[in-house]
Amino acid sequence: MEHVPWARDLARRLLAGPLPRRWAHTQGVARKAQYVAHIVGGDAELLICTAWLHDIGYAPELVQTGFHPLDGARYLRDIAAAEERLCRLVANHSCAIIEARNRGLAKELSDEFPGVGGLLEDALTYCDMTTSPEGHSIDVETRLDEILARYGHGDVVTESIEEARSQIALSTLRIKSAVSVRSDRHVVTDS
Ligand SMILES: [Fe+2]
Repeated sequence: MEHVPWARDLARRLLAGPLPRRWAHTQGVARKAQYVAHIVGGDAELLICTAWLHDIGYAPELVQTGFHPLDGARYLRDIAAAEERLCRLVANHSCAIIEARNRGLAKELSDEFPGVGGLLEDALTYCDMTTSPEGHSIDVETRLDEILARYGHGDVVTESIEEARSQIALSTLRIKSAVSVRSDRHVVTDS
């Protein structure tokens, strides 16, 4: 877990001052990533680092396109020299490709940062979409409703979340199931 302090400190530097609520959310997402990290085996550290860094694209000093997954991933690739899969996960977190398409940025996103897919991408979506803006653990439906209410009718975020809703719910279900299966195995192993 040698890279986790780097990811945490970078996120803190970029978010804690200008965006304290986003920083609170980020801390909650990272806590949740630590909780589920065992299900991704050797990628546990990558998941936790990505949870710390997934929203840094909101930091005022990083804003370029105004689409935070892309701005954050480009900063990680070009300035922070982060590993490729970390950048790709940040770029694609929580079904970002759908909002990218609605913003006319899908080609840039997928050319520069192809999706990683699989349990890792599901796990990051789960951690983000079950953590409130204040960093508390909440169920996915409450989280999605909160985003829709915050951005309001007609906003590109609202339309994209509505489009992504079923995929986000499925990712969440897959992670809940993976966590319970692993927990059951631990019980069997321990007894
Ligand atoms: Fe987030």
